[in-house]
Amino acid sequence: MISITNGIYTLASIYYVIIPIGYLTKWWFTEKEMAGKGLVLVTGGAGYVGSHTIIELLNSNYSVVAIDNLVNCYAEKNQKPESLKRVEKITGKQIVFYNVDIRDKLALEKVFKTHKIDFVIHFAALKAVGESVQIPLMYYQNNIAGSSTLFQVMSDFSVKKLVFSSSATVYGTPQYLPITEEHITGQGCTNPYGKTKYFVEEILKDVCTSDKEWQVILLRYFNPVGAHESGLIGENPSGIPNNLMPYISQVAVGRRDCLKIFGDDYETPDGTGVRDYIHITDLASGHLKALHKFKDPSFVGWKAYNLGTGKGCSVLEMVKAFEKASGRKIKYEIVERRDGDVAASYADPSLANIELDWVAHKSIHDMCADTWNWQVNNPKGFEQS
Ligand code: NAD
Ligand code: WQD
Repeated sequence: MISITNGIYTLASIYYVIIPIGYLTKWWFTEKEMAGKGLVLVTGGAGYVGSHTIIELLNSNYSVVAIDNLVNCYAEKNQKPESLKRVEKITGKQIVFYNVDIRDKLALEKVFKTHKIDFVIHFAALKAVGESVQIPLMYYQNNIAGSSTLFQVMSDFSVKKLVFSSSATVYGTPQYLPITEEHITGQGCTNPYGKTKYFVEEILKDVCTSDKEWQVILLRYFNPVGAHESGLIGENPSGIPNNLMPYISQVAVGRRDCLKIFGDDYETPDGTGVRDYIHITDLASGHLKALHKFKDPSFVGWKAYNLGTGKGCSVLEMVKAFEKASGRKIKYEIVERRDGDVAASYADPSLANIELDWVAHKSIHDMCADTWNWQVNNPKGFEQS
């Protein structure tokens, strides 16, 4: 008799206490999400650019839900990715995180059902140029099919304000310099990764043509480098770094013996490759400015913006700047050119400067100093934690 009575009490307490608390909590959270500037879904949020952008979002009173499938970021078993745990430490704010793959429609729908999302910033992608040549189908499946699934779910839930993480690589070999947004895209993309960026841009243009409610900003990054000033987060490449800055940094900290400079016979001032390096914090703030653009009622459809400094820096100049910032000697040797490399690439950022009211402020020295601060405090990246 007692067990039946206990059972009735248990059922009653669930029905009259636990369920209402659950609804109240969801209501409270939704209200909280609405309290700030709005709720941003950040795909690939645990990555290098995503984590730095989330800091700026949280510091600007946006709420954030981050998703990531952890394919290229470090997380302890059943824990939030280390990068996001550190973002929470830096900002003192909580991030809602889900281990979700953008290719998983049902999982995406669950996120959109749980949270009233106002904006999406889409970083999730595979991005290693060399790897994309080896496994193109994985890149097309992940970056293009994954993006297409995300856009379909967004449309189903009437979430139609999107910032897409694109790349200067869509310009292929520059026909002129500095590169403006009018430069032709899709011609001479020398690798499958670059093609995925171009194809996703084209998909979004078609979506905007089919549905006038969509507002899409394509941010074409040049060469993001550097780290948050705290030194708690930064670029955390797995294996041998493909990119110049993390490789230099690993030579400086003793993880690599010698930098290979891919050619010194280009038509550039010192013969080495020239690129438009942009501090990751400047890049991150560009995403906030893009979100502000959605408030402009005259903005409909899609628009592309170059996020760069407009200044070129050669490999040898970067080496010298890093030696100055770190106090370490960078041993290097000149080797043959790398396939697919162009002599020079740098942005005309004036459209973003004017229309997004955004300017990159940080110098090459800042980029080197902040990279070094991250590297010296995290010689093995997030894994060491
Ligand atoms: P990253 O690898 O650090 O971040 C990408 C994140 O996306 C990773 O955490 C990864 O785990 C996640 N991810 C990948 N596929 C996913 C999937 N199917 N579902 C869910 N999560 C997935 O790279 P990053 O440097 O932060 O780049 C972010 C974005 O910026 C990418 O789209 C990249 O193409 C673009 N971009 C980067 C650079 C650069 O030099 N870093 C330059 C231009 C453009
Ligand atoms: C910069 C310069 C190299 C490494 C890549 C992707 C692009 C984008 C940004 C995603 C070049 C030289 C490099 C090294 C070297 N990523 N270099 N030794 O190639 O401009 O752009 O990253 O969107 O899509 O292509 O950047 O850092 O690889 O090279 O001499 O070990 O440094 O030749 O001149 P890149 P990078």
